[in-house]
Amino acid sequence: MRSTTKTAEAARVMSICNACRYCEGHCAVFQAMELRLEFNADTVDYLANLCHNCGACYHNCQYAPPHEFNLNVPAAMAELRQENYGVYAWPGFMGKLFARNGLWVSLLSIVVITLFTALTASLTGENFFARHDNGFYGVIPHNVLAGLFGAVGLFVALALVLSCVKFWRTMQLPAPHRLNFRQVFQGIKDALSLKYLDGGNGQGCSYPTETPSMARRWFHQFTFWGFMLCFAATSSGTILHYGFDLPAPYGFLSLPKLFGITGGLGLIIGPIGLLVLKAKADPMPKGKTNKGMDVGFLVLLLLSAITGLALMLVRDTPYVGFTLCLHLGVILTLFLSMPYGKFVHGFYRLIALVVFAVEKNDHKPLVGSCKTKKV
Ligand code: HEM
Ligand code: SF4
Ligand code: SF4
Repeated sequence: MRSTTKTAEAARVMSICNACRYCEGHCAVFQAMELRLEFNADTVDYLANLCHNCGACYHNCQYAPPHEFNLNVPAAMAELRQENYGVYAWPGFMGKLFARNGLWVSLLSIVVITLFTALTASLTGENFFARHDNGFYGVIPHNVLAGLFGAVGLFVALALVLSCVKFWRTMQLPAPHRLNFRQVFQGIKDALSLKYLDGGNGQGCSYPTETPSMARRWFHQFTFWGFMLCFAATSSGTILHYGFDLPAPYGFLSLPKLFGITGGLGLIIGPIGLLVLKAKADPMPKGKTNKGMDVGFLVLLLLSAITGLALMLVRDTPYVGFTLCLHLGVILTLFLSMPYGKFVHGFYRLIALVVFAVEKNDHKPLVGSCKTKKV
């Protein structure tokens, strides 16, 4: 079993907390901890993905620095999360991309956007800066777009599914059809409501400062639902195109437009709010994590919404070609970085919350239960 300085530190802090238990009311991490006496790598990977980095236990801890125990639970969990994202990545060697994530995502976006624009401009010639009756399909035909994004989408889906399977198996969850529906529903409910960003008392988390606040929870909800609505916009467009022979462009009251506009606004409000909070945040509960990964992901989400809404506005003007290339370049970078960046947190957190619902119902530990070896 894996044994690193990060797994050892997470096991150390959990062993101290297990004797203290002052924070048991804050979140699921402490309740899951209390079911155990030992913390191996699988167990701490589970606890790390349960921790929502709300900061409450850091600000309430009598053993936090400058105490000699130097206890910082959220930092230990955040640093371990960053390590285990790489451990569960598929294919394994791509896990290295979680280090210096912000840097390579920025470089990739510059390369992809530049190549996409240069290639489209050279292939379309005068048509690049021209008005088209069929909107952006006049610049890049539908089949070319569907082929390119379909192929990349399939690889991304495969990489995400195989990473989740690896994590699922480590969590010792049974096959999905053998899970109790009520417990799965509880896990999904806790994930969608971001239950553990409420600080345990409903007042919100200690983020960006010690004073409890619901700001992060709200801005995350704008980001999450904005993303889901944009996904619904693309899916409904695909269904209308292939299922009903109704190709784009669509009117303002069509499903793709309504989902796209509301989702785009959510993906502007949410990431801007989260970026502002991050700029003000106390760095201690975050530990030595890769801030660039969070910022890179937030900026990509924000740019995808801004360029998407801009494309809608310039659809009938000669700027459609250029704006389309900007938008598609950003979306392609977002797609390519999904299995190797911040995006994976949603899946691992959801799985961890389902495990927690199962353990809570059975009153016994699931993860690490067959392996007693200590880290
Ligand atoms: C199962 C669903 C999800 C859960 C439970 C969840 C939970 C969380 C939590 C607890 C955090 C704060 C701790 C951390 O930085 O890791 C976070 C951060 C973040 N999440 Fe999610 N998330 C989910 C899905 C998503 C999705 C689908 C998106 C957008 C596509 C998203 C975007 C973000 C962003 C941008 C951050 C960084 C915010 C910051 O740095 O302040 N999340 N998420
Ligand atoms: S974080 Fe500190 S106060 Fe909270 S349970 Fe652990 S040791 Fe106790
Ligand atoms: S930071 Fe918040 S979510 Fe994480 S262990 Fe502490 S109280 Fe729980």
